[in-house]
Amino acid sequence: MINNGEYKILKNPQSTNFNVMELFAGCGGMALGFENAGLQTKLLVEIDKTCSETLAKNRPHWHIINQDVTQLKFSEYNSQVDIVAGGFPCQAFSHAGERKGFLDTRGTLFFEFARCVKEVNPKIAIAENVRGLITHKNSETLAIILNTLAELGLSL
Ligand SMILES: C[S@@+](CC[C@H](N)C(=O)[O-])C[C@H]1O[C@@H](n2cnc3c(N)ncnc32)[C@H](O)[C@@H]1O
Repeated sequence: MINNGEYKILKNPQSTNFNVMELFAGCGGMALGFENAGLQTKLLVEIDKTCSETLAKNRPHWHIINQDVTQLKFSEYNSQVDIVAGGFPCQAFSHAGERKGFLDTRGTLFFEFARCVKEVNPKIAIAENVRGLITHKNSETLAIILNTLAELGLSL
């Protein structure tokens, strides 16, 4: 554990053989957590050029695809990935936005995450989002998301 007085970072001193693919990787906040947990980073996808350059600068050995996830196919990774993760864009669900949900194109990107899970068939899928998603449209949005994942055979 690293403790600089302001925050603590839990770090697994041992690496594992488990690997992770992450969509919507941003500048690597979640990816760093997986790395600290000892997981192998198989692939990161991020549309923003500056974010992708930041990822590449800090972790030159990571495989980063700087592209729109909607343009990618993932079936070549089928059964080769333990965890598919993604913090899909939250603006459409956040209390800080207009909360248009699936009517906002950014809100539909969850379905790209679900498509990736279907094509890759990982052991575990981890989706991360904002608190506002829980109550969005009287929780109907969350129900659609959970049903979509359940239909892919995931135990919730
Ligand atoms: C909520 S942030 C993810 C933050 C990340 N999980 C982290 O820990 O830093 C969502 C990210 O999705 C990216 N994004 C938005 N649309 C995308 C798309 N169509 N394809 C790939 N990435 C996209 C955004 O640029 C943004 O960096």
